[in-house]
Amino acid sequence: MKISFILWHACFLLYLGDTIQALSYDYSATTECLEEAWKVQYGGGIIQNPEFTNGIEGWTMFGQGKLEERITKDGNKFIAALNRTQPSDSLSQRIQIQKGKIYAFSAWIQISQGSEVISVKFRSPGGKYLHGGTVIAEQGCWSMLKGGIVAAFSGPVDLFFETKNTADEIWVDNVSLQPFTKKQWKSQQEKTIAKVRKSKVKLHVTNKDNTSVAGAKITLKQIKSGFPTGCEINQNILNSKKYQDWFASRFSVTAFGNEMKWYFTEKTRGQEDYTIPDAMLQFCEQNNIDVRGHNIIWDDPRYQPTWINNETSPQELKDAAENRTKSVVLRYKGRLIHWDVVNENLHFSFYENKLGENASAEVYARTYELDQKPILFMNEYNTIELSQDEDSIPAKYARKLKNTQSYYRERSGGNDTLPMGVGVQSRFGPGQPNIAYMRAGMDYLASMKFPLWLTELFVDKGENQAEYLEDVLREGYSHPAVEGIVIWPTSPFSSECKMCLTEQNFNNTPNGDVVDKLIAEFSSSKPLEISANGQGISEVVLLHGDYEVTVRHLETNSYTKLKLKVTKNSANFVPVQLDAFVPHVLSM
Ligand SMILES: *[C@@H]1O[C@H](CO)[C@@H](O)[C@H](O)[C@H]1NC(C)=O
Ligand SMILES: *[C@@H]1O[C@H](CO)[C@@H](O)[C@H](O)[C@H]1NC(C)=O
Ligand SMILES: *[C@@H]1O[C@H](CO)[C@@H](O)[C@H](O)[C@H]1NC(C)=O
Ligand SMILES: *[C@@H]1O[C@H](CO)[C@@H](O)[C@H](O)[C@H]1NC(C)=O
Ligand SMILES: *[C@@H]1O[C@H](CO)[C@@H](O)[C@H](O)[C@H]1NC(C)=O
Ligand SMILES: *[C@@H]1O[C@H](CO)[C@@H](O)[C@H](O)[C@H]1NC(C)=O
Ligand SMILES: *[C@@H]1O[C@H](CO)[C@@H](O)[C@H](O)[C@H]1NC(C)=O
Repeated sequence: MKISFILWHACFLLYLGDTIQALSYDYSATTECLEEAWKVQYGGGIIQNPEFTNGIEGWTMFGQGKLEERITKDGNKFIAALNRTQPSDSLSQRIQIQKGKIYAFSAWIQISQGSEVISVKFRSPGGKYLHGGTVIAEQGCWSMLKGGIVAAFSGPVDLFFETKNTADEIWVDNVSLQPFTKKQWKSQQEKTIAKVRKSKVKLHVTNKDNTSVAGAKITLKQIKSGFPTGCEINQNILNSKKYQDWFASRFSVTAFGNEMKWYFTEKTRGQEDYTIPDAMLQFCEQNNIDVRGHNIIWDDPRYQPTWINNETSPQELKDAAENRTKSVVLRYKGRLIHWDVVNENLHFSFYENKLGENASAEVYARTYELDQKPILFMNEYNTIELSQDEDSIPAKYARKLKNTQSYYRERSGGNDTLPMGVGVQSRFGPGQPNIAYMRAGMDYLASMKFPLWLTELFVDKGENQAEYLEDVLREGYSHPAVEGIVIWPTSPFSSECKMCLTEQNFNNTPNGDVVDKLIAEFSSSKPLEISANGQGISEVVLLHGDYEVTVRHLETNSYTKLKLKVTKNSANFVPVQLDAFVPHVLSM
């Protein structure tokens, strides 16, 4: 008795020790500009005087200008950098970073006039710059700048802010920089996976008269993973059994590389040909693979059908875009889970330039009128993968999405919301991915509460390609808001293999091995064998997905089989009535 009491206490203390070590990541973020900022994350982490309670102590001027302590009407202190002459003239703090650590950054920013893009950067004494993140700051309210860096070296760096317009004062409050070891980062991923990708299920096995049956043997076999993992395909799949087998045995979702695009389906004006995408869609449907429609219109002037060019008149372009939208959306009506509606409309504006600022928004609204099933996605690159690309920063992404919504609201004369999705392509370069920035970008976008997908995940060829591919896949899977991932490999039929998953004969490359390993982790590949206890109860934690449950009770020679769908919202109590040889279906 005494010993077990002591042991129990020892375990409890160990457990406490462990939780103290396991630093939790703070996923909170907002795209709103707030009158009052949130309190500083992680108590500021390694930032000295993060809330400016001691005025400017610990902070210096970066470049020219001066720092001033200011105070809000509620008596909260913040800091202003003014009399600036260079974009980087701002407040600064020297910090020590350690190679291999992952740094989560957040701060609240305001600008003295108008609205400006403002970044946080880190400069090493050697003149190396690390980009930590960017937001659109506004006058009169506080915007959250959330980002981060992964340290590729150890040593001092100077944190500073940058904005082009030097006439603006930069106002800052509640700055935080929290280091995580790789181990802590990974343990956060595991914690999140346990929380958002799994649920506890309690099965209760009874006879027909509802009396509990002790000791029944239960087998749970996952027949579909609850986490959609997909891969882009191309038309070669129609003629290659090997390609078909390789693809269909692994993935549950896809998008076609080119075959649904306008330049593919209407090469000559007025002559549409859907033969190939029709066949590809049919193949996917036969294999129970969901299809993301990619894409209706592409905002990049380089990727229009050849008969559309700069000379096309606005009226002609408008008519052509309407024809295209109607044609492709109605053709595949009800058969697609998503549409990438106007591809890359942050980097490009071919349609906006010709037809006005609401040109993309109009295509979203029109698509919804034609088919209410697919979620309507934006689809952009560099939003979470490259912090220095200001064209598609999360804040601009959020602004475009909100403008599309308000256009639709006005157009529909009500308060309706378009069922939109946040598609981030996730096309990483060849170097070390900035997973701190990636996570912060996902946090920021996720706060709008639309489905978030990584739509074209790719890691460019480089020394550690397979390892980096694993890092970004894990980061996506373990983010609480991510609802699916589509990988965008180089076609096995292409001569240049930038990111092949297989050789031409469909044997895995190291990248393919990583993908297989993770698919096995994201799903339950082995059937689970469990037994009900004396009260007929069996509790089990399951990865989300569709299961086939078989229950056998040898003593009474009874048996049942049922289908079970485990999602984050499904009931966690599952009554199982033994009903010899009459399979029945439980739907949630
Ligand atoms: C910063 O956080 C504190 C709470 O810790 C809050 O009182 C203050 O208003 C915040 N700063 C701004 C500018 O809102
Ligand atoms: C800062 O700029 C203001 C005008 O914006 C000017 O009145 C003031 O003299 C300047 N202060 C310094 C220290 O340069
Ligand atoms: C067994 O329980 C189910 C649901 O809990 C109930 O609908 C059913 O009537 C019960 N059957 C018997 C024989 O008590
Ligand atoms: C239109 O002109 C721009 C700039 O000259 C060029 O980059 C683009 O490819 C042209 N677009 C089309 C569709 O011809
Ligand atoms: C749009 O479709 C209509 C009917 O098929 C056709 O007459 C018209 O020429 C098309 N417009 C453009 C710009 O392609
Ligand atoms: C675009 O739509 C918004 C409504 O969301 C409207 O306020 C604005 O005037 C429109 N712009 C043009 C050029 O029509
Ligand atoms: C839209 O919302 C506003 C404010 O919430 C409300 O006053 C108005 O009646 C709503 N309009 C419709 C058409 O639902």
